[in-house]
Amino acid sequence: MILANISDLREAARRRLPHALFDFIDGGAQDEVTLRANQEDFHQLALLPRVLTDVSQRDLSVTLFGQKLEQPLILAPTGLPGLLWPNGAIEAARAADAAGVGFCLSTMSTSSIEQVSEAVSRPIWFQLYVMRDRELASSMMERAKAAGCSVLVLTVDLAMQGQRDRDVHNGLTIPPQFHLSNLIDFALHPRWVWRYMTGPRVTLANFIGTTGHRDDLFTIAGFVNSQFDQSVTWKDIEWAKSIWGGPVVLKGILSPEDARLSVEHGVDGIIVSNHGGRQLDGVRSAIAALPDVVEAAEGRLDVILDGGVRRGTDIIKALALGAKACMIGRPFLYGLAGLGGPGVALALQILRNELDLALALTGCARVQDLDASFIGWRS
Ligand code: FNR
Repeated sequence: MILANISDLREAARRRLPHALFDFIDGGAQDEVTLRANQEDFHQLALLPRVLTDVSQRDLSVTLFGQKLEQPLILAPTGLPGLLWPNGAIEAARAADAAGVGFCLSTMSTSSIEQVSEAVSRPIWFQLYVMRDRELASSMMERAKAAGCSVLVLTVDLAMQGQRDRDVHNGLTIPPQFHLSNLIDFALHPRWVWRYMTGPRVTLANFIGTTGHRDDLFTIAGFVNSQFDQSVTWKDIEWAKSIWGGPVVLKGILSPEDARLSVEHGVDGIIVSNHGGRQLDGVRSAIAALPDVVEAAEGRLDVILDGGVRRGTDIIKALALGAKACMIGRPFLYGLAGLGGPGVALALQILRNELDLALALTGCARVQDLDASFIGWRS
C-alpha cells in the first residue's frame, strides 16, 4: 500500500495491529466528540497566503527551551509503545533523534528513562504524573535528571483515568477481560504475535522494582492506576519545580485562567492539550483553545499545541495562532505500529515535506515568521 500521508499510516496500523490495540491508540473518551473536534477544528481555519515573497530558502527550525528542533515538532508522551512494536519507545526516540525533533518519554513507557536516554544523542524530555507516592515521583525526577533529560513535562489533566469505551468493549481494562473474540483477533495477526513473543518483555519499565509487587504489565498497571492523585494542586507544581531545577512544562492546559496561573507559578511552558481527546469528552479542541491561552500567557512562557495535528498545514495554523511548536501522538504511533522505527521516521518525513510545501505556498519562508495574518477566516 502507498503511504503518502498520516491517514495512510493510520490505515496500515489498522490492518497490522490486533483490533483491540488499534482501538487503544486510535480511540478517545466516551463519544469521542473531542477526539473528532481536535482534527475537525483545524478545518474551520483557512490560511491566507502571501505571494511574491521569495520563499526559496525555507527554515523549519525553532529553538525551544534552549534546544534546536529541525522542525517544530515533539513526539508526545505515550504509554505502552512496546505493545505496538518491540522496543517501541527506543525505536521512536531514535527516529526523532535522527530527524532532529523532540521526544518526550512517558512515565508509562515500556522502555525506561535510562534505556531511552542512552539510545539517543540529544536529550529527551520526560513526562511525569504527580503520583500519590511523592517519593516515587521525586525519584523518577532524579532519575530523569541523572539521565540528562532536558525538560520535565507534568501532565495535569489526569486526576483520574478517562473512560475510553472502545477499550471497555475490547476488554482492555485493568485487569483485562479478554474474550474468545480477542483471541481470534490476535490469532489473525500472527506477525504481531511473533514480534510480541520474540521481543523484550512488555511492562511499565520505569516502575520495575519500585512498586513492591510483581513486575508484570498488569500488576504494575494496577499499581499505577492507584497512583493517580486527585489532590494535586499548584503547590505540587512548585514542589516539582524545586526538585527538577530545569524547564518545567504543564501538559493539559485549556483554560486561559490556568495559563495565567501557569505564568504566576513560573512554569516555562504549557501544552494546550486535552490528552488527544482521551480524558474528558466534550471539552474544547486544542486548536480552538489555543488563541485564548496564547493571549492569556502574554508571551511570558512558551505555548505548545497538542492534539489533532495530521497535516503540515495544521502545524502552520497552530504556529500562526501563537504556538511555538506542536506535539504529535497518534501520527507517530500509527507509523510505529505499521513499520516500527522506519514508520516513525516516515511519519516525520511526511509532515516535514507537507510543512515545507505549505510554507512555500503560504509565502512564509521561516516558521518563526508565522503569525495571525496568515489565518484568513474562522467560522
Ligand atoms: C497518550 N497520551 C499520553 N499523554 C501523557 O501525558 N502521558 C501518557 O502516558 C500518554 N499516553 C498515551 C497513549 C496513547 C496510546 C495515546 C494515543 C495518547 C496523550 C498524548 O501525549 C497526546 O496528548 C495526544 O496523543 C495528542 O493527540 P494526537 O496527536 O494523538 O491527536
